[in-house]
Amino acid sequence: MNLRNRSKSFKLKPIIITIDGGAASGKGTIAKFIKKEFNFFHIDSGIYYRKIAKIVIEKKIVLNKKKEILDFINKYKKINIANNRSLRSLKISKKSSEVAKIKEIRNLINSNQKRLVKENLKKYPGFVIDGRDIGSVVFKKADIKLYISTNQKIRAKRRYKELIDRGERIIYSNVLNEIKIRDEKDKNRKYSPLIIPEKAITIDNSCNLQKTKKLIKNLIIKKLSNNKKNANK
Ligand code: C5P
Repeated sequence: MNLRNRSKSFKLKPIIITIDGGAASGKGTIAKFIKKEFNFFHIDSGIYYRKIAKIVIEKKIVLNKKKEILDFINKYKKINIANNRSLRSLKISKKSSEVAKIKEIRNLINSNQKRLVKENLKKYPGFVIDGRDIGSVVFKKADIKLYISTNQKIRAKRRYKELIDRGERIIYSNVLNEIKIRDEKDKNRKYSPLIIPEKAITIDNSCNLQKTKKLIKNLIIKKLSNNKKNANK
């Protein structure tokens, strides 16, 4: 049976899949695979942090004091994540994990993500959202929660290749270092640190992406068919 049409034809409640993990762990690739395979709506939550980082860098905005943060939030209530091609540079990566420490910025981004899901609820059989706090904070009640753990050096090599392919002039050791620092910051920050969410399935994506994809595809098929059975009872 065509999985793309299955949820639509039975008018099932859309399912939510969260994918959390460290920098360059492969979350994005897996999320895009799910989006394509099941016709789900995909949100890359990191784009929001990167977009804010870009605005902060370009406009030389300082977000140290409460008033500066509140003024920023009032001005950028709705974050436009279109045109996100230029957001992957090392400079923006570094800045994004700085803005990610600010509770008010996180709340702003979370409400933007929830609104986007709500606006598209009737249009898709499911949603896949990737980031650092998606299963632990933003969509705690998700149907499937995944945590992707990947060896740090493998992640650095992948990100290095991605940046070189995009035309950045960069050396590998800087990329590895940046990932180490960002992981540290993301895991140790006060608000919404990167953790393995409760009830999440941990998947090691260090070696075999095809195996990872197959495993996840089967998990989703099982969930969708259980939902169908329950709906028909
Ligand atoms: O996933 P990506 O590398 O694009 O995320 C950039 C940065 O945004 C992360 O290093 C992290 O500091 C922050 N982030 C976050 N919570 C998310 C997604 C990203 O704190 N859900």
